[in-house]
Amino acid sequence: RPDIKNLKEEMEKQLPESTNSLLTDISRTAERTGMRVYLIGGIVRDLFLERPNDDIDIVVEGNGIDFAEHLRTDYGGSVKMHETFGTASWIHPSGLYIDVTSARLEYYERPASLPDVELSTLSEDLYRRDFTINSMALCLNPEVFGDLVDPFNGQADLRSKTIKVLHNLSFIDDPTRILRAVRFETRFDFLMDKQTESLALNSMARMRDLSAHRIVEEMKRLFKDEDPPGTIKRLFKLTFWQQFGVDDGSAEQSYIHAGQLKMFYEIHKPPAGTKPRWFNYFAIPFFTSKKMYLMSQFSLTKRNNKFLQDIRNLSDMEGVEQIREPGEFHRFLKHYEDEAIIFMIAKENMENEDIITSYLKRRIDMPVFLTGEDLIQEGMKPGPHFRGILLELEVAVLNGEINTRDEAVAWLHENHMK
Ligand code: CTP
Repeated sequence: RPDIKNLKEEMEKQLPESTNSLLTDISRTAERTGMRVYLIGGIVRDLFLERPNDDIDIVVEGNGIDFAEHLRTDYGGSVKMHETFGTASWIHPSGLYIDVTSARLEYYERPASLPDVELSTLSEDLYRRDFTINSMALCLNPEVFGDLVDPFNGQADLRSKTIKVLHNLSFIDDPTRILRAVRFETRFDFLMDKQTESLALNSMARMRDLSAHRIVEEMKRLFKDEDPPGTIKRLFKLTFWQQFGVDDGSAEQSYIHAGQLKMFYEIHKPPAGTKPRWFNYFAIPFFTSKKMYLMSQFSLTKRNNKFLQDIRNLSDMEGVEQIREPGEFHRFLKHYEDEAIIFMIAKENMENEDIITSYLKRRIDMPVFLTGEDLIQEGMKPGPHFRGILLELEVAVLNGEINTRDEAVAWLHENHMK
C-alpha cells in the first residue's frame, strides 16, 4: 500500500473518544502559544499496526515544561516537573498523565552517536530513540494536524516487519534496548534486520553492566507478552542467558519446560492464576542448567526468594509421581507455594497432574475444623505430636473423608484418643 502521509483519519477511527478530545485540546494550546507540538512513540507505531494504545507522549520543539504549564492554564489539572531532563508531566483533571518532553538541544548532552549532519530538533529527538518503528511523530498543530514525520522510514520497516536500530551505538547507549527488540519481535511477530541482530550479539556482554533492577524490569515486561517459550529461545540465540552463567546447551530443554508450564496453566487453570508469573519463566534456564544459585541476584522480593527456596527443596523430593489422592499430596507439599509446585510438576508431564490441581484447589479453602486449642479442650495433652495429628486431619479433610466438625471430633477420638 502507498505511504500514509497523514493519520488524522486513523486517529479518529482508532483512538478512544477521550484521547482524541485531549489531542484536540493540546492542538489548541499549540496554536495559541505558537509552539510546535508532536505526538510521539508507541502510540504512533500502534496506529499503523491497528493495536489499541492510548498512551499520550508529547514532544515540543521548545520548552516542554512551559508547554505543560500552558496546558494547565488552559484546561486545569496540575504539572509535575522533572527539571534535570527538561520534561514535565501534565496531570489532566481526569487524573491521566501526559508526558511532555523538550526536543530542545541544550537539555541534553550530545551523545557520541549523533551524526554531524544537521537535523531538525525533532529529528534529533527521534534519532535518540531505540528503533525506526518507534521514531515516528505526528504533528498536532491545527494546520498540519496528523501529518507524519518519519525521517528514518519507520513506516517501511513496519511494513516489512523489521526491528531496526537508528545507529550502530544504540545498544551501547542502552543495552536494555536489546530486550526491547526481542519484546517487539515476539509481540508483533517482527524480526531484527541482520545488522541490528549482529549489533545485539556484539553488545550482549554489556548486559552484565546493568543493575539487577533494570534487568528485572525488562523481564517483567518480556514475560508478560505473547510467547514466553519463544522469548526464552530467542534470548538463548542472542546469548542473553549465557551472560549470567547459564549453559548454552540448556536452550531446548528450557524451551520445552516453558511450553509445558504455559500449557499447564491453560489446561488446569490452577488457583495460582491464569498465567505463570514472569519470575517462573525467568527461572527456567537457570533451573535447567542446575544453576539456580546464580539467580538469587535477581530475586529482589520475599516472594521470589520463597519461590527459589521451594524449588530447591522440591528438586530433592521423591515419590510424588505415585500419589493418587489429593490429601496424600498434602503430606509432601503443605509448606510449598502453588507456583513452585506447578513449576516442578509441569516439567515432568506427570499422569497425576489432575489430582495435583484438585489438591491445590481444595487446599485454598480447606475448612479448619479443629485447632490445637480444640485438642486440649477434648482432653489431650499438648505437645509436638499435635502437629502430626492436625496434619493427618487436613489430609483426611482434603480426601473428603471428613466434612463436618462433628466428624472431625469423632475421627480424633477414634484415631488418637484410644
Ligand atoms: N525508548 C528508547 N529507549 C529505551 C526505552 C524507550 O528509545 N530504552 C523510546 C522508544 O522510542 C519508545 C519511547 O521511548 O517508543 C517510549 O518508551 P516506552 O513507553 O517504554 O515504549 P513503547 O514503545 O510505548 O512500548 P509499549 O507499547 O510497550 O509501552
